[in-house]
Amino acid sequence: MNQKTDEDKFELKSRKAQHVKIVVDENVGVDKVTNGFELFDIIPRSVPDINYSDINMNAEFLGRTFDHPIMVAGMTGGYPEAKQINEKLAGICSRLNIPMGLGSQRAMIVNPDTKNTFDVKASVPDVFLVGNLGLVQFCMDFDLGEYDQAVEGVDADAMAIHVNAFQELCQPEGDVNFKGAWDEFARISKHSKIPVIGKEVGAGIPYEDVIRMEKLGVSAVDIGGAGGTSWAKIELLRHSDDRPYELDDPTLRVGIPTAFATYEATAKSDVPIVSTGGMYSGLTAAKALAMGSSMVGIARPVLTTLINHGVEAAEQWLLGYSESIKRLMFLMGVDSISQLRKEKSRLVPTGRAREWLSHRKII
Ligand SMILES: Cc1cc2nc3c(=O)[nH]c(=O)nc-3n(C[C@H](O)[C@H](O)[C@H](O)COP(=O)(O)O)c2cc1C
Repeated sequence: MNQKTDEDKFELKSRKAQHVKIVVDENVGVDKVTNGFELFDIIPRSVPDINYSDINMNAEFLGRTFDHPIMVAGMTGGYPEAKQINEKLAGICSRLNIPMGLGSQRAMIVNPDTKNTFDVKASVPDVFLVGNLGLVQFCMDFDLGEYDQAVEGVDADAMAIHVNAFQELCQPEGDVNFKGAWDEFARISKHSKIPVIGKEVGAGIPYEDVIRMEKLGVSAVDIGGAGGTSWAKIELLRHSDDRPYELDDPTLRVGIPTAFATYEATAKSDVPIVSTGGMYSGLTAAKALAMGSSMVGIARPVLTTLINHGVEAAEQWLLGYSESIKRLMFLMGVDSISQLRKEKSRLVPTGRAREWLSHRKII
């Protein structure tokens, strides 16, 4: 790996701190783009024929059984305050028995002093931890040694490899040389001793790329669709000048809405799918699971609730979210997540969703 300068280290630390500050303080939802779930109507059962209190929220994912079909998507690490945020998130995820994602561990490779801001298992050993690195880094200066360092440094149970071309494009110091990225992905996947998750951060992964990831051996794909937190917007807000786009540029709306990406990925591939990107209500989650997703990922609402209202509030928010999925399950007459995941035919794609799915030859 190239020697990193002190300036690089400082830049990374302050970038991760800026991300959290912007996410908490600014409107970072993507303008005029929705996650698309409102275009799918649920057909409820008139007679559910189940007992609400028998509904089981357990979800199988990566060979483990979790208590809820939800995970906290990777967010932070790499600067002093991130240690507390990650430890609090780890505590919540361990108590709820759901997976927790870390933010990009690049900071910890570049600056080993920041390892303790990611290493939540030191205080919460039983949390199911998903590590995180960016694929583009492997096209630049990372190799499998850095991959192992990230995994072993936090004792990760799975590793998310994020693909974030649109984010990098809008980032002041973005890396836009993705040449050779598929080969790097194959190398990582072959080498990894723990499950690898291919992950977008808000532009969505089309089913062709989901299939390609599946073929190269990933254990799950987080389709990270459009309609939630806009990374293009966050990065543009970090530019003081020389923005590649203005905040109202229509290009910012490019991306596959989470619902469309989920529907087509679950139709065309057998790899477990995580639906992340604007999944802010139990209703959207129930629809994603009915499409066949294995898990729903949530980032921004968990972080903002944690920072603005504390641990208890964030934990209650997640519990309320799961309860809300359960209410939808009751109306659909299913009492397990595995059953809910077979209910795709009870979702009616309307309008633009129907056009998208028909154009993509999914329906
Ligand atoms: C403050 C913050 C930092 C994030 N940092 C990362 C990261 O380092 N790596 C990554 O793969 N995704 C990162 N994400 C993206 C999330 O995992 C998620 O894909 C995205 O925010 C969409 O989910 P949401 O609409 O629930 O926020 C971050 C999200 C937030 C809110």
